[in-house]
Amino acid sequence: MISAKSIAARVEALAREISTYFADTDKLVVVGLLRGSFIFIADLVRELDLPVEVDFLEASSYGNATESSREVRILKDLRGEIEGRDVLVVEDIVDTGHTLSHVLKLLGTRSPARLRTCALLDKPSRRETDVTADWVGFAIPDKFVVGYGIDYAQRNRNLDHIGAVRFVE
Ligand code: IMP
Ligand code: MG
Repeated sequence: MISAKSIAARVEALAREISTYFADTDKLVVVGLLRGSFIFIADLVRELDLPVEVDFLEASSYGNATESSREVRILKDLRGEIEGRDVLVVEDIVDTGHTLSHVLKLLGTRSPARLRTCALLDKPSRRETDVTADWVGFAIPDKFVVGYGIDYAQRNRNLDHIGAVRFVE
């Protein structure tokens, strides 16, 4: 669906926009949502022309199925404090939006200076909340995708591109 080359070009462009936006920041806290964002965040931070700190947060979403659970739980919280800091939350896919919406609400209670979000993929047709990412890599149709960190039942995260899963009856 999206080649490694297209992803790399888009990540570079996103990083340029984000670097400009946060140009005056002291040290940006880049928060990766585990596990799906691990490759995206690794590529993104290396293209950022900013001082950054990297932290991770894990929220439960799908389990091993392809249906989103609307209940979001925090499985692993941040290690660092974000009060008064500029924060960029990095997500693999915004689907229904429940995960991102929950995470933003939680982090918002900790009084960050600026709280912004970047998602590699967005499935706008699936949205059930009013959350939108500030930067989006690619808007995609309602297909279940894997690769570049994104899994189906913990498989295919190591693909260098994004592919759509074909489900066989
Ligand atoms: P949301 O809470 O429905 O927005 O779900 C977001 C999370 O569901 C993402 O961070 C992914 O981990 C997972 N997800 C959504 N769509 C897909 C997909 O097409 N493939 C794999 N995981 C997905
Ligand atoms: Mg995820």
